[in-house]
Amino acid sequence: MPSRSSRWILALVIGSLGLALSSRDRATGEAEAPKDPLAAAVERGRALFQQSWGPGTKSCAVCHAGGKNKLTGARLKAYPKYDKALGKVATGQEKLNEMIQSKSKGTAFALGSAELTALEAFIATLR
Ligand code: HEC
Repeated sequence: MPSRSSRWILALVIGSLGLALSSRDRATGEAEAPKDPLAAAVERGRALFQQSWGPGTKSCAVCHAGGKNKLTGARLKAYPKYDKALGKVATGQEKLNEMIQSKSKGTAFALGSAELTALEAFIATLR
C-alpha cells in the first residue's frame, strides 16, 4: 500500500505527463494547417489557371492572361449575372465550370469545391 505522499507524487507525474502530451498534440495540429490558408488557396488557383486540362487542351491563361479577354477579379465579381453561353443568370463558380468544360475541355468541379474556390481566390487577385 503506497503512502499518502507517494500517491500525491504519482498523481502529479500522471497529471504533468497528460499536459505534456496534450500540448504536443496541439503543436502538431498547428504544423499541419497552412500558415496562411488564403495564400495557399491563391497558389492552388494559380496552378489550376496555368495547367493544361489534358493533351491538346488550352489552359485558362492561354486565353485570359492578356489581350481583349484579359481576365480580372472585377470581371468575375460581376457574377451572378446573365451569361449568354449558359443561357441563364449564373454564379461565378458556374461560369468557371462552363469555361473548364467548353474552352479548356476539362472536367467540371463540384460547386463549392476547394478547387473552384481556389480558382476564384486566384482570379480575385488579377488586376
Ligand atoms: C480558348 C480560349 C479560352 C479558354 C481556354 C478559356 N476561356 Fe474563359 N473566356 C473566353 C472567352 C472568349 C470569353 C467570353 C465569352 C464567354 O463568356 O463565353 C470567356 C469568358 C470567361 C469568363 C467571364 C468573364 C469575362 O471575362 O467575360 C471567365 C470568368 C472565364 N472566361 C474564366 C476562364 C477560366 C477559369 C478558364 C480556364 C478553366 C477559361 N476561362 C478558359 C475564352 C477562353
